[in-house]
Amino acid sequence: MNNQISAAKKDEIRKVADPCTVVIFGASGDLTQRKLMPSLFSLSCEGLLAEQFSVVGVARSEMTDDSFRDQIRAGVEKFARLKPADCDLWDAFSKNMLYHRGNYDDPQTYKDLSKLLAKIDKNVGGACNVLFYLSTPPQLYPIIVKQLGQAGLAQQSDGHWRRIIIEKPFGHDLPSATELNQQVHDVFDEHQVYRIDHYLGKETVQNLLVFRFANAIFEPLWSRNYIDHVQITVAEEVGLGSRAGYYDTAGVMRDMFQNHLLQLLTLVSMEPPAEYDATALRDEKVKVLKAMQRIKPEEVGQYTVRAQYRTYRDEPGVAKGTNTPTFAAVKLFINNWRWRNVPFYLRSGKALGDKMTEINIQFRHVPHLMFPLKPGQQLPPNVLGLCIQPNEGMNLRFETKVPGAGMRTRSVDMNFTYEQDFGKNTLPDAYERLILDALHGDATLFTRSDEIELAWGLVDPILQGWDSEFSPVLAFYESGTWGPGKSDEFMQADGRKWHYACSDC
Ligand SMILES: NC(=O)c1ccc[n+]([C@@H]2O[C@H](COP(=O)([O-])OP(=O)(O)OC[C@H]3O[C@@H](n4cnc5c(N)ncnc54)[C@H](OP(=O)(O)O)[C@@H]3O)[C@@H](O)[C@H]2O)c1
Repeated sequence: MNNQISAAKKDEIRKVADPCTVVIFGASGDLTQRKLMPSLFSLSCEGLLAEQFSVVGVARSEMTDDSFRDQIRAGVEKFARLKPADCDLWDAFSKNMLYHRGNYDDPQTYKDLSKLLAKIDKNVGGACNVLFYLSTPPQLYPIIVKQLGQAGLAQQSDGHWRRIIIEKPFGHDLPSATELNQQVHDVFDEHQVYRIDHYLGKETVQNLLVFRFANAIFEPLWSRNYIDHVQITVAEEVGLGSRAGYYDTAGVMRDMFQNHLLQLLTLVSMEPPAEYDATALRDEKVKVLKAMQRIKPEEVGQYTVRAQYRTYRDEPGVAKGTNTPTFAAVKLFINNWRWRNVPFYLRSGKALGDKMTEINIQFRHVPHLMFPLKPGQQLPPNVLGLCIQPNEGMNLRFETKVPGAGMRTRSVDMNFTYEQDFGKNTLPDAYERLILDALHGDATLFTRSDEIELAWGLVDPILQGWDSEFSPVLAFYESGTWGPGKSDEFMQADGRKWHYACSDC
């Protein structure tokens, strides 16, 4: 059957990664325990890692190989999609898991690492292909990259590869991101570099591409001719947690907009790439970012809302009287033929009513309505909700006739959920997908250097405006709500309102 995936394609998708070693810097940290090692274990359970696969954890903390394995096992038990009880591979997996203690700025750490990799290659095999993973605080990225370069660890030879995954945040503004790109490029070629934005590893985000470009029915509607506006919401239910040091200097614009929200925007709005590959897809995303209208610092009052949840200043670790925004709403435009004059409303915040990410596409009203309405009445618009999380799926809201006499109408929903069609717990963690892609050398779902810089180029003037006399007043909102009243007024001023189409998925 045409629409069935061929056996060859399946084999390709489930291809086992090359024999290799993953070296994690910051291996004693939260991300390693909660995401990286649980993902690697799940991949191993799925048979997607080679037999000659090892992990070297690097950090300053005192640990032995065994205590490192114990720490990782606790994380795998708690956070992995597939746990040691689900597959009988823990012993084989953990046997090749080593801990290497050292300071990140000490050349000796890297000399010893080099020797350790040679030893692994002799004993286990696979240590000629190495994926470095930077999972430390970001100020250490340039230091580690430089040391890797000086130790010759980034060099590829004899058909073997060396790659590096770099965690977010990648810079804190355009100059620092540009500088970091330069520092990375001094050591690694761009094709060796994988800047991670875990949102792109989510199945539902990738499904955006399938939804748009594997179906004929939506794309003809996907433009200013039929779409009134687009809304993108990334809402967190939790407040600050333990990240005060980072967050209070970053705020919501750097933490969420520069990466996740702009990535979602590019995927919703880009032109169809000619093929599914890293260059074609990222070229199209870059074209969108280049076509976006920059908000000038003096325009932030018109195009943005910024707010803080009311108890934020009481959180441990934040600066006294801090004005760091924990919520923002922004109106953006893309100046090209497809999207001219179609507003893209983006909002994100902490301590909101729910943890949810959704994209709502509101379509235009019909040009002429033949059914009688009461004076001042307007039919609700058609809204397509692309539900990224937690109700993964999609929801199309349209009008239908209420049974009975007359021509009364009501909005109804047609929806698809992953859970209903594919079963529970079938969605792999984003990190599983992304780490496997990096092991396969596929950078399609990673951010390229020019993309990162263009995104910062859009965010920086907003941040400058917020630091200036043009800034909108910082609004406050109660935790557990959907942000400040100003956010609703922002939409009302354009005759629109925020949608929650996915809560019905
Ligand atoms: N955690 C998440 O959910 C998450 C999500 C997205 C992105 N990230 C990014 O991923 C990276 C790692 O996150 P994480 O939460 O695992 O970080 P973390 O726990 O704060 O730090 C990771 C490790 O880095 C070392 N470290 C911490 N502060 C240091 C310092 N001042 N100087 C030298 N070493 C230091 C520590 O190991 P030793 O002291 O043993 O050397 C620590 O265990 C960060 O860049 C973060 O922004 C994290």
